[in-house]
Amino acid sequence: MSHYFSPDSPGASSPREIEVVLRGRPVRVATDRGVFSGERLDPGTAVLLSHVPDPPAAGTLLDLGCGWGPIALALAAASPQARVLAVDVNPRALELTARNATRLRHAVEVAQPDVLLAAEPELALDAIWSNPPIRVGKDALHAMLRTWLPRLAPDGVAHLVVSKNLGADSLQRWIENELGQATSRIASSKGFRVLAVAASAR
Ligand SMILES: C[S@@+](CC[C@H](N)C(=O)[O-])C[C@H]1O[C@@H](n2cnc3c(N)ncnc32)[C@H](O)[C@@H]1O
Repeated sequence: MSHYFSPDSPGASSPREIEVVLRGRPVRVATDRGVFSGERLDPGTAVLLSHVPDPPAAGTLLDLGCGWGPIALALAAASPQARVLAVDVNPRALELTARNATRLRHAVEVAQPDVLLAAEPELALDAIWSNPPIRVGKDALHAMLRTWLPRLAPDGVAHLVVSKNLGADSLQRWIENELGQATSRIASSKGFRVLAVAASAR
C-alpha cells in the first residue's frame, strides 16, 4: 500500500482546490489525494506557521517534507528575496508545491531530497521549517533529521512542529543528545510543540 510519505506512485489522483490561510494570508491552493492533509491546512502546520518568527530575508530556506507546500509558500511570501527550497519523497507533493508556487507567483525550487543533495553536496541552510513525517517511524525520521539539521549555517535555525503525543519531548532530547544541536521549545499549543534547533550546542 502506498502512503503519503512513500516515493512510490501515490495512487489515483483526485485533484481539488482548497482555501487556506497561511500566516494571515488567505490563498487558494491545489491539493490531491495521496498527499499529507490534502483536505485542509494540517493543525500542526497551522501551529508552526502561527508561532515561528519571520525567516531570514535572504539566504537559503528549506521546507523539509513539503506536502502540497503550505510551509514553502509561507517562507516564499515572507522572504521573496531568499532562495526557497522544498523537498519531499512523494512526487505528487513536489508537483503540487511547484504548481501552487507558480500560481501564487513565488519562486520555490522543488526537489527529491537525494537529487538536491547530489547536485549540491555542500548545501548550507539559513532556515529550515518542517512538520516532519513522524509516522515514517523513528529510524526514518532520525535519518532524515540527521541528513538536514547539521546543514544549518552557523546562525541558522530550524523550526519543527511535533505533536506532544507523538514524541515531541523525546525528539527534542534526541536532537540534543545525538546531533549535539541546542534545541528549545518556543511554543506549545493545541497539543503541538514548536521546537527551535540551533546549528550547534551553543
Ligand atoms: C507531516 S507531512 C507535512 C507536509 C506539509 N509540510 C504540510 O505541512 O502539510 C510530512 C511530509 O514529509 C514527507 N517525507 C517523508 N519522508 C521524507 C524524507 N525522507 N525526506 C523528505 N520528506 C519526507 C512526506 O511525504 C510528507 O509530505
